[in-house]
Amino acid sequence: MKDFRDKIAFITGGGSGAGFGQAQILSEAGCRVVLADIRQDHLDQAMEHFRSKGAEAKAIRMDITNREDYRRAAEQVEAWYGSCPDILVLTAGVNAFGPAEASTFEDFDWIINVNLFGVINGLVTFVPRMIQAGKKGHIAVTGSLGGLSGGPTTAPYSASKAAVINLCESYYEALKPYGIGVTCFCPGNMNTNIHEATMTRPQALMNTGYYESADSIEMYRRHNILGMDIREVGERTKKAIEDGVVLCIPYDEPDKMCADILQDTVDYCTLEGLQRKAERDASGNKNDSKDAAELQSLADARKAGFATAKQDLSWVDSRKKL
Ligand code: NAI
Repeated sequence: MKDFRDKIAFITGGGSGAGFGQAQILSEAGCRVVLADIRQDHLDQAMEHFRSKGAEAKAIRMDITNREDYRRAAEQVEAWYGSCPDILVLTAGVNAFGPAEASTFEDFDWIINVNLFGVINGLVTFVPRMIQAGKKGHIAVTGSLGGLSGGPTTAPYSASKAAVINLCESYYEALKPYGIGVTCFCPGNMNTNIHEATMTRPQALMNTGYYESADSIEMYRRHNILGMDIREVGERTKKAIEDGVVLCIPYDEPDKMCADILQDTVDYCTLEGLQRKAERDASGNKNDSKDAAELQSLADARKAGFATAKQDLSWVDSRKKL
């Protein structure tokens, strides 16, 4: 897809971070953007930005885990524009990190509900509408590099994002005959507000096995600041939509980077591979996107308790690496 003029772009998580960056760039390319977000303050701030630019934008407050909210949002878009979206950007997501063995059902329920079912709900709501309207559009889903491999402290998050990547591959193949493209955007660290994710965690799912304090959140925020700027996120997403790539790893040499990350998967298959991986882990050569400053900030965050278990879980091995 190359022409963005007057296209309707529906963007979940459009009120903040990556989704807001994607909304800015798509708006500047000519799209009419609809921001969907659970946080009214994020929507208000983002709408203020578009108002100040004189750009056309609309906001819908909704919870992507709620299918009724999604149906209402689809009807609202059709009421506003007489048509469903041409571009669907499913970016809203959350995270929380801690040792896999400390994870509670509620940690899994919250993260999988938002990151995986939030995307599924968007696809099931909008794809039939896009096909029936004859839209030759594009769907961009925000996954994560974290979905390409598991880590000791990322179980629910990595599982949700791995599923999202796989889902995008299925939808890419399925939607080809209709002229609808599908991309899974898989970044590493980005400069967003993801450190505030717990603020939208439902009361009923608050029981966590992970440590969290004002300090650990602040250290995570300082780590996020080192990540990709949200306007670059938007530019990279737009380019991926233009190119029609299925997996967008928004860094130089994405194919090599992807192969390096997937080396863990290859190495899990054989005894020799397990040995190679153990040596890589011991040498600290993790083959990922983090530079020295990011690694240092993660180490600092770790000292503040980030990605550790809740203190009363004394049976969890505290040497667990990130
Ligand atoms: P962010 O917190 O700045 O933006 C996420 C937005 O999603 C927020 O405005 C939040 O209110 C909204 N949201 C959360 N739960 C929602 C729900 N149930 N319904 C509707 N809206 C909801 O964070 P960021 O980083 O921009 O996150 C966007 C995506 O990027 C997420 O899927 C995240 O997993 C992914 N990602 C983030 C990375 C990072 O380093 N920040 C790295 C890789 C992927």
